[in-house]
Amino acid sequence: MRSSTVDLVLKNSKIFTYQGIISGGLAVKEGKIYNFLKEPELLRSDKTIDAKGCLLLPGLIDPHVHLRDLQLSYKEDFYTGTCAAATGGVTTVIDMPNTIPRTSSLKTLREKKREAEKKIVVNVAFYAGFPKNTNEVKQIAKEGIKGFKIYPHDPTEEVDFKDEEQIVACLKAAAENNLPVLVHPDELETIKTLQSELEKQKLSDVEVFLGSHPSTSEAKAITKYSDLGVKTECHLHICHVSSSESLVAIKRALSRGARLTCEVTPHHLLLTSEEIKKQGALAKVLPPLRSRDDNVALWAAVLDGVINVIASDHAPHSLSEKEKTFAEAPSGFPGLETLLPLMLTKVAQGDLRLEKLVDLTSSSPAKIFKLENKGMLLEGYDADMVLVDLKEKWRISPEKFHSKSKFSPFKNWNVIGKVRMTFIKGICVMSDGEILVPRGFGNVINGNP
Ligand code: NCD
Ligand code: ZN
Repeated sequence: MRSSTVDLVLKNSKIFTYQGIISGGLAVKEGKIYNFLKEPELLRSDKTIDAKGCLLLPGLIDPHVHLRDLQLSYKEDFYTGTCAAATGGVTTVIDMPNTIPRTSSLKTLREKKREAEKKIVVNVAFYAGFPKNTNEVKQIAKEGIKGFKIYPHDPTEEVDFKDEEQIVACLKAAAENNLPVLVHPDELETIKTLQSELEKQKLSDVEVFLGSHPSTSEAKAITKYSDLGVKTECHLHICHVSSSESLVAIKRALSRGARLTCEVTPHHLLLTSEEIKKQGALAKVLPPLRSRDDNVALWAAVLDGVINVIASDHAPHSLSEKEKTFAEAPSGFPGLETLLPLMLTKVAQGDLRLEKLVDLTSSSPAKIFKLENKGMLLEGYDADMVLVDLKEKWRISPEKFHSKSKFSPFKNWNVIGKVRMTFIKGICVMSDGEILVPRGFGNVINGNP
């Protein structure tokens, strides 16, 4: 047998780099990208994979994912959620803390990490919620999280978001620990006030839902939190920006010197509230789907760089929960398996440059959330990669999802661009929809604040 020099050679590929696409191969050694090769057959390797002319991109980094594990595992768990990620070309996800129990203590964070280590097939990092006692922030931060997430509209949060002093204490504590605060921009009091006014009128549940989460509330919350962010020198990341009004608030905050980054979801870019008429509670999500004008404004902000990241907000629920009445059904739907094909379709249609897509889904989230050696195909970087067929046309079939949530507002959409293989540190974890590695193969990522 020949002695091996590298662990993997991927040949016959088109490799994405910011200097242009390289036709040829790539070698992986000890989990890292070793080099790019014009003639890969000259290198000795344990394993060779023929990419058959497909395009190799850095694996996607999705910083807004609800893996749900621990007591909500009937909706999703670390295994099914990360299988969904691998199928969607996502090699790193950051898990949200709104689970049961909430990830707002050292104990729960450690419990989640232990559970994740047994089940995940891609890389997983964590966010935490703020604990009631901000003195514990430092300990939680030391455990290696990627940020603190706040849901000011959630009555089960441990912090009282009516109390500005408490908010300031939280943002200060995050800033001291060099961590961003992720904001779901809404307010409980505003929702309650609007809801009670709307319920007095003869309106449908859908109208009450839309009317109690208007763009104005979102924009107001963005302004309030970014002002507090300036005051505390805290980096804020605004989650799922959904409206043109919010973009105005973001631009204003940036011009005032706020350390602000923000994300948009494929559903807020592609769908409108009209979808609720067709799909009912299946299309119920927070923030709500809005208008065509909002879609247009969000696309413009993606293209001109105001929006930094495209994230899925993968928010799985059981089908029986989504089949409840509109008012009772939970908001959210899965998104890990549809994000890349939907966006590659935009690339195929000439509406989005490939460089821009890679930046929004890999390079930029790697920088924002300090995922070292990830987010680009460069020598020495982690060989977390996704191989895509840019030409394949197919139809989204949620019944085939790896997620436990086998539904999607994008059901039956025709898309162009298919994820063929996903690699974590040079190992193929998914090939044509099949998971090739055992539970626990993925890595829990610890931060270094
Ligand atoms: C999310 C969920 O279900 O956890 N739901 C949603 O509609 N987006 C929560 C969230 O991200 O706000
Ligand atoms: Zn949210």
